[in-house]
Amino acid sequence: MTFDPTKEVHGEPPIKSLTLPERESRLDQKGTILWFTGLSGAGKSTLSNLLEKRLFDDKFQVYVLDGDRVRQGLCEDLGFSELDRGENIRRIGEVAKLFADAAFLVIVAFISPFCKDRDRIRQTMDKDRFIEVFVDCPLNVCVDRDTKGLYKKAIAHEIEEFTGISSPYEAPLTPEIHLHTSDQTIDECINIMVDYLKSVKAIR
Ligand code: ADX
Repeated sequence: MTFDPTKEVHGEPPIKSLTLPERESRLDQKGTILWFTGLSGAGKSTLSNLLEKRLFDDKFQVYVLDGDRVRQGLCEDLGFSELDRGENIRRIGEVAKLFADAAFLVIVAFISPFCKDRDRIRQTMDKDRFIEVFVDCPLNVCVDRDTKGLYKKAIAHEIEEFTGISSPYEAPLTPEIHLHTSDQTIDECINIMVDYLKSVKAIR
């Protein structure tokens, strides 16, 4: 007898794929994307790594997708033109949605400077499963911090299309969470995000 997955096998009903509620119930959390957006040097990587650690220590399944790392692999063929950034964000959005579909908490940390690219992902998600986090820091503070020395190069025209210098950054108009990393402490920022996740029942 040939194998037909739509037919009963030994009196058992056909095999169905696992559902999101089944996965969420196993992990006791809701598949959710926390989408960090902000200038280079605003604090996205620092905050995403610390939030990941906090949630991990609290026994949640969580994973960070970070621009600097993903651009070395999945998106290594892309540059920083508006078109390439759009494709970068599209790919990351699709990966993040797969993680969320596996009931993970996904923290996405990319500059993602264009509203239309971020909104395209939001529009394909259920409400409360896409949480936009504006990691806000004035440009002059990011330039002063210049953690990677890239602003200096961008100002000297050694790097083209650098966000905030020679390429635009479109701030979110109505982010779910708005952090001010030049005024708030890291602990305050982390607590704001954890409290928000609890308020939408992504975690308990
Ligand atoms: S995004 O605009 O497509 O979302 P992404 O977050 O992946 O950008 O990558 C940003 C990182 O790439 C920066 O933190 C910086 O280290 C590096 N980088 C190199 N060139 C540029 C550039 N022209 N503009 C912005 N970031 C750049």
